[in-house]
Amino acid sequence: MKKIEPAKATENVRHAIRDLVPVAEEVEASGKEVLYLNIGDPIVYDFRTPKHLWDAINANHKKCEGYANAIGSPEARQAIAEYANSMSAKNIAKNDAILFSGGSESIILALQALMNPGENILVPKPGYSVYNGELNFLNCEHNEYDLDEENNWQIDIETMRKSINEKTRGIIIINPNNPTGSVLTKKNLKEAIDLAGEFNLPVFSDETYDKIIYDDAEFVSAASIANDVPILGLGSISKTYLAPGMRAGWIYRQDPNGILDDYFAAIQKLCRLRLTNVGPGQAALIAALKGPQNHIPEMVSKLQKRRDLTYKRLNEIEGLSCDKPKGAFYAFPKIEFNVKSDKDFILDLLREKGVLVVNGSGFGQKEGTKHFRVVFLPPEETLNTAFDKIEELIKEKYS
Ligand SMILES: Cc1ncc(COP(=O)(O)O)c(C=O)c1O
Repeated sequence: MKKIEPAKATENVRHAIRDLVPVAEEVEASGKEVLYLNIGDPIVYDFRTPKHLWDAINANHKKCEGYANAIGSPEARQAIAEYANSMSAKNIAKNDAILFSGGSESIILALQALMNPGENILVPKPGYSVYNGELNFLNCEHNEYDLDEENNWQIDIETMRKSINEKTRGIIIINPNNPTGSVLTKKNLKEAIDLAGEFNLPVFSDETYDKIIYDDAEFVSAASIANDVPILGLGSISKTYLAPGMRAGWIYRQDPNGILDDYFAAIQKLCRLRLTNVGPGQAALIAALKGPQNHIPEMVSKLQKRRDLTYKRLNEIEGLSCDKPKGAFYAFPKIEFNVKSDKDFILDLLREKGVLVVNGSGFGQKEGTKHFRVVFLPPEETLNTAFDKIEELIKEKYS
């Protein structure tokens, strides 16, 4: 039989974070230990899902076994609405919220319900690769605006303005950002929202890491400072609630003038097409958003030590420089030594030293610059070993 061809639309779907895993497996198969600093899954390291999430699943076996409401049960949507309001969104009600099987699904369905081939949506550069992967699939342009490395990766409002054209359908903001770990200042965020208002565009504010914030940084939700500009706020229990395997994420809308009515209904239609949410995820989400929150400060203080170590060690290595991450659990050092591409460097690092990080080009970066993303979830000992190996490789091969 002839080989079956996949759909053309899948050709350009890339997800740099996962695409490297097969190479790492090859390296492991050759007998070398691999240190995984590539994936933002706290459970791979020394974090566990809070027990009360499991208790909620165990107390609701029957509910978890059946189909769950396609857009989320009223109770789950109420929990999301209350969470949004607790983050200073304005008057969000349960009908303004939708539950998804994870934040990634919310991105995929929200883009599917909005975008026609040939249209574009603004995405940050660097930014989270699921957005670009899905836009490629939809035959849409990821119309990038820069985050300014010289200014703590704040939004370069001028490049944002210049990127908007007649085919632009919205603006995506990721705050705190993956991969840079940057947190937007209130002023910068407000400028971006005002710009969206000027051009009649909705703002998608991905706030997946809203409670993982360090030092004196302040997280400001887009909804809290928007007036008329419609906001779609994205969140997830994967990171702050340490439950990426349970699959629950959400979108709420703050839309005082009902501009998003038809669009929001279209997202719900796509939710119904895939029948159901993940029952256990829904039970866990309600427990997460309404239950005890004390794991969050514990997690943040553990991570802050790892962030401090990462920042110090990376900047001590000659040929690297790194802005201090203020949120999430990623650092995005700049490569200042001579190498053909960041992909070449990270493959070298993987094959020669057994350290897996992700090439900056997988997230987008300013023309002519090279970076890689480090996940600083692992314990200090693992991080130190990884940084030793990065330092060794640069000394041996690149200086
Ligand atoms: C910025 C951002 N948004 C959304 C997600 C989606 O997470 P999940 O699908 O696990 O909810 C991630 C995961 O890494 C992320 O980094």
